[in-house]
Amino acid sequence: MKSSEIVQPTKSTLEKKLQQLESSIGNTPLREISNLLPDSSNVRIFAKLEWKQLGGSVKSRPAFHIIRDAILNGQLTSDKELLDASSGNTGIAYAHIGSRLGIPVTLCLPENASPERKQILRDLGTNLILTSRDGGTDEAQEIAEKLYNENPDRYYYADQYNNKSNWNAHYLSTGPEIMEQTYGQVTHFIAGLGTTGTFTGTGRFLKEAKPGIRLISLQPDLPLHGLEGWKHLETAHIPGIYDPSIADENREVSTENAYEVVKLAKDLEQLEISPSSAANLAGALKLADELEEGVIVTVLPDDGSKYIDLLKELLK
Ligand SMILES: Cc1ncc(COP(=O)(O)O)c(C=O)c1O
Repeated sequence: MKSSEIVQPTKSTLEKKLQQLESSIGNTPLREISNLLPDSSNVRIFAKLEWKQLGGSVKSRPAFHIIRDAILNGQLTSDKELLDASSGNTGIAYAHIGSRLGIPVTLCLPENASPERKQILRDLGTNLILTSRDGGTDEAQEIAEKLYNENPDRYYYADQYNNKSNWNAHYLSTGPEIMEQTYGQVTHFIAGLGTTGTFTGTGRFLKEAKPGIRLISLQPDLPLHGLEGWKHLETAHIPGIYDPSIADENREVSTENAYEVVKLAKDLEQLEISPSSAANLAGALKLADELEEGVIVTVLPDDGSKYIDLLKELLK
């Protein structure tokens, strides 16, 4: 047979576009946070700057993997709309990826999501269904599920709270990046819980790669809090992907403490970060204070650009 007669399997247009997108997802820098620690400390803190990727937040990782896996297994076809509930960042990530792939996105979002988030989503052409402030992301999830059950042929329901591609995204990317960027020296990983994908996937990978590591999960200290993206699991729906056996320890962070760290990060590290990023850093700083030595890694899910009014108030 002549080589010109060999027929290569053709990839669908969507699969080709997915491949092109992959290089814009993840691979974020690991930044040392040294100015918030006393000079005498033998502990080092490193943070993944997760806004430095397409869509501007950590949620591009799960959004990309959820969409890719659904396309590859035939659940998300070009005649369907992607539907999910989100507190904002996953929605923004879906919208960026969806607009590149030509997939329409419908999102159920609590009405108190920051005005900046809602505007970004509208500008990206997302169909927004606003749900009540009091119902939070739990109600947004119930409404998305109801919409899907009423129109199963119209939507692919991504269901980030129960979709294993969410944590798997971090297992395949965030975890390996941390091992590589710290040359395997990471001793502690600490991060907050929302859908729990970041902590579950990264923690699962790191524990397998380095069994001696300590994994610490963080939650808001109160059911009503200002840490957008985080869940108070005692009083909220527990995401199906949450695995309580992964954390060696669970801790709480107050919104006030996070706000203090927003200010410290700006003054001492020249970083303008979101409340949930600051809460992760607050957890890392408290841990550093208790340790003799160690290499703590956390993630900063997004920067301050979606919280302009709040930061103006905090940083004045
Ligand atoms: C700003 C922010 N921080 C933290 C998280 C929590 O991450 P995960 O959902 O992976 O638990 C989210 C999730 O939406 C978020 O948007």
